[in-house]
Amino acid sequence: MNIQTSAPAKIILVGEHAVVYGKPAIAVPVSSLRAYAEVEPSSGGLQIASADLDEMVPVDISAATIDNALALTARLVLQKLAASPPEVTIRLHSDIPIASGLGSGAAVSTALARALCAALNAALPEAELNALIYEVEKVYHGTPSGIDNTVIVYEHPVYFVRQQPIQTVVIGGDFMLVIADTGRSASTRSAVDGVRALYDSRHEQVQALLDDIGELVAQARGCIERGQAQALGDLMNRNHALLQQLTVSSPELDRLVKAALDAGAFGAKLSGGGRGGNMIALVAPDSEGKVTDALTRAGAARVFTTILGRRARC
Ligand code: PMV
Repeated sequence: MNIQTSAPAKIILVGEHAVVYGKPAIAVPVSSLRAYAEVEPSSGGLQIASADLDEMVPVDISAATIDNALALTARLVLQKLAASPPEVTIRLHSDIPIASGLGSGAAVSTALARALCAALNAALPEAELNALIYEVEKVYHGTPSGIDNTVIVYEHPVYFVRQQPIQTVVIGGDFMLVIADTGRSASTRSAVDGVRALYDSRHEQVQALLDDIGELVAQARGCIERGQAQALGDLMNRNHALLQQLTVSSPELDRLVKAALDAGAFGAKLSGGGRGGNMIALVAPDSEGKVTDALTRAGAARVFTTILGRRARC
């Protein structure tokens, strides 16, 4: 048995948080950063070994409730396939930082579900796998919009609107993105809850911010389709300002955003739940080095580059 499966990280280009309220958002996979699952024969029933979390999760599919996301993933796969647990250990390993807006939870669960399917000699269509990972996301996030599981399972750029079919984004040019980690992990659930509390207490004001984000996401899609990096960068800057008003930025994120802009980025913003985690900067290829250096000097724990290119479609 030599089975290895994987799933990518993701970033949200524009539209996080507003997407929870029915506005569009655009997310892209980061294929160079992945979660992996490997299957080994075992004699102790189905077990999931998570190297990064240093835990061994036995899967008891008869338990009344399961609050461990890994065990829940396995149980949902077994139920979907009407299969008994195979005698295997599935070893998980991820290069994606946890709780940092890069979709590590959805990626690990997706790699695990694929490995379990492979161990059972079965396959789940991507739409079914996507729905299943969405159920698991609820354990991590409470009320997820579904954008993370969608971009990660399909591994394509998505223009995502909650409860609507996935829409195609045609990539009209190459967009270079520098991603920097504040080094501070942050709970998406508590950021989403914070925005909800604000929405409930200052409804009209917050609704206006969400409407503005929705409009700029629609414009961003046009910029991506026409290959207009400078215009997309301007929209990312506006999006970051609106996210600040939604209270989901942080001093670390603001410092990195400013450092990237001062070093010549077209635009920069937090990405994902915020209050920590990662930010993204859109750069011209000839300013990538300068922006990367500036982010490192400004305290980024990790900086890397990914390209959203013409070949990517959803
Ligand atoms: O999982 P994260 O931190 O990348 O955040 C997901 C994006 C949010 O819009 C904040 C939440 C959601 O469910 O869409």
